[in-house]
Formats: sequence, structure tokens, C-alpha cells
Amino acid sequence: MAVAGYPRLAGLSAEYISEQLKAYIDGRRVNAIMSDMAKPLTIVQIQSVATFFSTLPMPTQAGTPLSDATQADRGQQLAERGDWSAGIPACFNCHAPGGIGIQPSFPPIIGQPAAYIEAQIRAWKSGTRQAEPQNLANALMYNVALRMNDNQIKSVAAWLAAQPTAPKNQH
Ligand code: HEC
Repeated sequence: MAVAGYPRLAGLSAEYISEQLKAYIDGRRVNAIMSDMAKPLTIVQIQSVATFFSTLPMPTQAGTPLSDATQADRGQQLAERGDWSAGIPACFNCHAPGGIGIQPSFPPIIGQPAAYIEAQIRAWKSGTRQAEPQNLANALMYNVALRMNDNQIKSVAAWLAAQPTAPKNQH
């Protein structure tokens, strides 16, 4: 539900989904809606729902041209090449060319809602997404988020959200 800023779950790895649900339960990841959704789940329910979503193919979407060309260029530059003057590596270095993710630990970011992408980067910066790095994956993304300014966050989120996605079962 892009308008509400809710992410696509289909095609995320089972390991990644379970880890995120556990992070909501432990309070390492905080979200008003998801923390309450996750807390009553048993380990078996977490594993079942995570496996289920991992088997669904990533939905396709057509690309949407961005009205702000400067923002689009800046976003594409960050995604494909990074900004070495600010110590920011290209998003696609870790999230794979095209942002389709590398299973199981690097989630796909292409075509996720802009509001969701922005909220995650801000959550790392503000400490509501595993502020104390407890796993290597989280520490990697935390270090990228810390170096991003507001303009960069908005540009890359808008550009990634606007890209077309191809059918791909990430399972
Ligand atoms: C050094 C490797 C690395 C780079 C570079 C990187 N990421 Fe990440 N990113 C990760 C990892 C690992 C995760 C999963 C973190 C976790 O397990 O919580 C992640 C998670 C994310 C998420 C959360 C996705 C979700 O489904 O909740 C978003 C959004 C994201 N990255 C966006 C970006 C953007 C935008 C860039 C470029 C500016 C970027 N990343 C660059 C490693 C990286």
C-alpha cells in the first residue's frame, strides 16, 4: 500500500522477514503499527508467514517518470554510483544491480514506496531501527543511512520507488 507507506513483502527472503518480526518483538525495530502486530506471534507463526511471503513473486509495476528531473538525476546517481565525497556507497553495490536484492540478507529496494524507503533511512538515523547494531546486516545499512542528508534521502527514495519492476521470484 504505497500511499500509506506500507512496503511490499512478496519476494523478501524468509530469513529477512523473520529477523524483522523478531526485531519488532525485541524493540530493536520500533513502529506503532508493526510492533503491536508482531508481539502476539509465536515462533512457528513467524516462520510460516515468513516462508509464505518468500514464495510469492515480486509484483511487477510500470515505471513512473519523476516530474523533478534534478531529483531524478540525484537519486539515480546515489543508487548506481553513490556519493563518495560524503562516504556513501552506491545502493546497488549491496542491494544488487537494479536494486533487486541479494538473498537472504540484502532486501530488494526497487519499487518499494518512497515513503517507506525514506522512513527506514530516517529510522536508522534516529535509532528506531536497531540503533545498537546487533547484526552485521543492520550495521552496514546503519552506516550508509548516517551519512545521508535530507535531500539525498528524498531523491533516492523517489527515484527507487518510480522504477519499473520485472517479475522475479526471489525465493
Ligand atoms: C554496505 C551495504 C549497503 C549499502 C551500500 C546500502 N544498503 Fe540498504 N541495506 C543493507 C542491508 C544489509 C539491509 C538490511 C538491514 C537489516 O537487516 O535490517 C539494508 C536495508 C535497506 C532498506 C530496508 C528495506 C526493507 O525492506 O525494510 C532500505 C530502504 C535500504 N536498505 C535502502 C538503501 C539505499 C537507498 C541505499 C543507497 C543510498 C542503500 N540502502 C545502500 C545494506 C546496504
